[in-house]
Amino acid sequence: MQNDLLTPNRPGVSRLRGDAYVEELGASTALKAATTGGMLMEAPTNEFALAASLAELKAKGRLVVHGRHRPILVIYDRGRVFALDNRCPHMGFPLDRGSIEDGVLTCHWHHARFDLESGCTFDLWADDVPICPVEVRNGEVWIKTTFAHADPGAHWGQRLTEGLAHDLSLVMAKGVHGQLTAGVPQTDIVRQVALFGAQNRDGWGVGLTILTALANLLPVVSEEEAYLALFHGARRVAADCDGEAPRRDRAPLGSRPDPAALKRWLQRWTKVRHRDGAERTLLTAIASGCSPAALANALLAAETERTFADSGHSLDFINKAFECLDLIGWEHASAVLPTVVGQMVAARGAEESTSWRQPVDLIALCDETVGQVPELFAAGGIGPGWADHVALAQELLGHDPARIVDALKAAIRTGAAPADLSRSLAYAAALRVARFGNANEHADWETAHHVFTYANAVDQMVKRIGAASSDGHLTAIRSVLHGAMALYLARYLNVPPARIPGDGGEGLDDLPAGAEEIRVALLDAFDRQHQVDRAARLVARHLTLGYPPQALIATLAHAVLREDAGFHTYQMLEAGVRQFIAWGDTDEGRHILIAVARYLAAHSPTERAALQTANIARRLMRGGELHEEAVASL
Ligand code: FES
Repeated sequence: MQNDLLTPNRPGVSRLRGDAYVEELGASTALKAATTGGMLMEAPTNEFALAASLAELKAKGRLVVHGRHRPILVIYDRGRVFALDNRCPHMGFPLDRGSIEDGVLTCHWHHARFDLESGCTFDLWADDVPICPVEVRNGEVWIKTTFAHADPGAHWGQRLTEGLAHDLSLVMAKGVHGQLTAGVPQTDIVRQVALFGAQNRDGWGVGLTILTALANLLPVVSEEEAYLALFHGARRVAADCDGEAPRRDRAPLGSRPDPAALKRWLQRWTKVRHRDGAERTLLTAIASGCSPAALANALLAAETERTFADSGHSLDFINKAFECLDLIGWEHASAVLPTVVGQMVAARGAEESTSWRQPVDLIALCDETVGQVPELFAAGGIGPGWADHVALAQELLGHDPARIVDALKAAIRTGAAPADLSRSLAYAAALRVARFGNANEHADWETAHHVFTYANAVDQMVKRIGAASSDGHLTAIRSVLHGAMALYLARYLNVPPARIPGDGGEGLDDLPAGAEEIRVALLDAFDRQHQVDRAARLVARHLTLGYPPQALIATLAHAVLREDAGFHTYQMLEAGVRQFIAWGDTDEGRHILIAVARYLAAHSPTERAALQTANIARRLMRGGELHEEAVASL
């Protein structure tokens, strides 16, 4: 069917497309406009503005005119007129230096090719170039200078989906930026990326963990930083899915067994590495309406069938899947939660590791203690007043595993709840990082990091399960015991221990005194290698002078978001901020942020290539000119 709006030779009709047939003359509107030195003269009563006379354009072949926001390339090619954003969507270099052949515009710089009529690219990495409508009226070329989309949120959402599907960083950056500018809530973007990741990879991975960690940090970062956080999350999810087979769903069982049976089955299938059985059991629990707390209890019980599995990553992934659902909505539980099962059933437990068996059989020690849990809680009775978290954390950092276990038992007997134990464990693990000795090998940072992020995951899961069920106590204590033994095995990382700055009233007066100066100095430290101790001292300086921790946390987030950060760096930042929030602006909170800063300093700087991509996308989206001056001299 022929569309009248697209019919050539129909005088006076505004046609919403990016080109004009020069034969179409005859618009009689008396528009007061002219071109002067390449500047468009805007007509106040019309969105179209005069770009040039047709004769001039025909003679020159192409012209660049400057609209209110961006330069526009106007092209005459084989009897038709086209208008495009002159900034190449790849990196913003001017397209007017490109070549045209057979309706294809080839960018001069990296040779991306575009369909002249639609602006669509043949090279996905470059993205499509925006076009604007053209009219030829009485021998004059008029162009509509806006590049607006009818539904910008939907348009940029679709672009983000395409960027994710083809792992195109630039397209993803624009998709995120465009949606944010269109007022799409940050959570909606997290949901879009999370569901893409859950459906396009056969299992939860690093990318979804990073996305969730960064999404958790959105409340503490600025809007500019939120763009970067969402972009990093999207690009890491896309990288995880690139080349992977999509996930194939399994179905819940037709029956609805009671939650206790489902929990037992999940443990059994995990133990014998029966993935299908475990996934169908979990899906049945979700379909049965089990609460997030009950699901957490069941998954933590199954996960701890193995000890400190996959160096703690398996449990951290499970916890992050729960946090992801907190963010995007529990109605997506059946799409998201089963993605953790594959790794959980396949994970290698520490019970297969010599260091956990000799010279002390730590597995046997844990198993024996777990057997005593009901009796211990019966003797103690959980009391709200238990507050010896710091003292217990110091015991957990000891050198004798039996004494460590005794300290945990004593805490239970005196009224500690599972969440009290996990809180102490997380703080002790943070101290392990804060006291990490610089004489260790660099790779040892990851050993300290693994214990801390595991301990944080245990703390979050245990809090989620709550104190109501004694069945949950057993599961929780088992996960705490595994973390405590992992912490014990990492004790060599603190020999000798690094000094924690700010303790004992240390002044740190050789450092800047103003809050802003301290934060600038901190970023400067992250710009250079081997600044671990200086970064720690600057964090201590900021906090001991009483400056707001929120600004310090935002600076730490900024330091991470500008880097091509590794997976562990995102984990460390997010776990540290979570633990700091739990402990508040106290000595313990300071120790936790010092741990974060020391780890970040040990892993900075990087190339910052992703930041470069994000900045190019941001400038292109804002309509600014890029590279015009630089190339003018070429
Ligand atoms: S292809 Fe045009 S700037 Fe790279």
